[in-house]
Amino acid sequence: MAQSIGILTAGGDSPGLNAAIRGIGKAALSRGMQVIGFRDGFRGVMENRTVRLDRTALSGILTIGGTILGTSRDKPHRMPVGSKTMDMTDLLYENYRNHHLDALVCLGGGGTQKNAYRLTKRGFNIVTLPKTIDNDVAGTDVTFGFDTAMGIATEAIDRLHSTAHSHHRIIVVEVMGHNAGWLTLGAGVAGGADVILIPEIPYDVKAVAEAIRERNRRGTGFSIVAVAEGAMPSDVATEVTALREEADQADAKADRKKARQRLAELDRAHTGNTLSLSNQLEELTGLESRVTILGHLQRGGAPSAADRLLATRLGTACTDLVTREQYGVMVAARGDGYEAVPLGDVVGRRKTVPLDHPWIQSARRVGTSFGD
Ligand code: F6P
Repeated sequence: MAQSIGILTAGGDSPGLNAAIRGIGKAALSRGMQVIGFRDGFRGVMENRTVRLDRTALSGILTIGGTILGTSRDKPHRMPVGSKTMDMTDLLYENYRNHHLDALVCLGGGGTQKNAYRLTKRGFNIVTLPKTIDNDVAGTDVTFGFDTAMGIATEAIDRLHSTAHSHHRIIVVEVMGHNAGWLTLGAGVAGGADVILIPEIPYDVKAVAEAIRERNRRGTGFSIVAVAEGAMPSDVATEVTALREEADQADAKADRKKARQRLAELDRAHTGNTLSLSNQLEELTGLESRVTILGHLQRGGAPSAADRLLATRLGTACTDLVTREQYGVMVAARGDGYEAVPLGDVVGRRKTVPLDHPWIQSARRVGTSFGD
């Protein structure tokens, strides 16, 4: 019977993390386990910075955004230490053992799942929970944080409507989501954006401009363009796809590195793309255009009711798995229940929006353009 667990939160913060920590912690305490938290993700395990998660520490955090444990994007096998980057997995393992932990629960997105999976190979007993506003973790119906961020982005689009309408302007609103379009698509449909641009559907700026001109011809002088931070024009998308394949298939380390470097360069060149998209649309339509970048607003503040519920469900389910000593798995949301998905089936697979997804079909049927 497990007696002691550790919890950490890693990667970008996400609304619902505290609800999940509370769910895991309270369910574990009620089963007689001790619970500790590690500060700032995997770095906290390496530096042995812990906090005792007792009833007092877990009380009053359900509704609070961010993570009481702090987070970082540090990876155990590529940890910045001084001016060097080192594999610190052994030190993490030593600290984990010294705390006599039966399991380490890692809350995070795709990167965290990958890092946690690596730790299972070193001997850690791991259970993970899927969190990210991007909703791009494979193997789960949904991730917590997504619903809150979608609500914030939807409200922003609602508010942008009245000012765009009053000034007869185009407003291009950039939504987060990394390389997946879930957030932009969900908020775009819910907020009634006229154009939705997502990474899964490369766009042609001329087609976007034509959709806006067509609205104008029909007497609607304003347009809202919801663009995902990872959306790309077709020519860039073709190059990125080729480079990703090259990086995946390259046998030699040097070739992989070269493809990845070129990808990073393209990524940098693409930063600020929303501004240039807005400028191009002004030129092509003759209308005034403005840009709104929602950025980290989408990750801040209190979680929605749906995210609190999801995080609590998955958090409490996590202790069932620990009790059964079912390790090396992610607690995935499946309908109203949950499923323990082996981490090997989660890592290396990003969940992007399928092109025939019902949200895309519905958007097209109400006349939304995807710029294709
Ligand atoms: O993964 C969550 C996310 O918010 C992405 O949507 C975004 O690309 C990224 O994190 C931003 O990361 P950071 O907060 O480190 O700038």
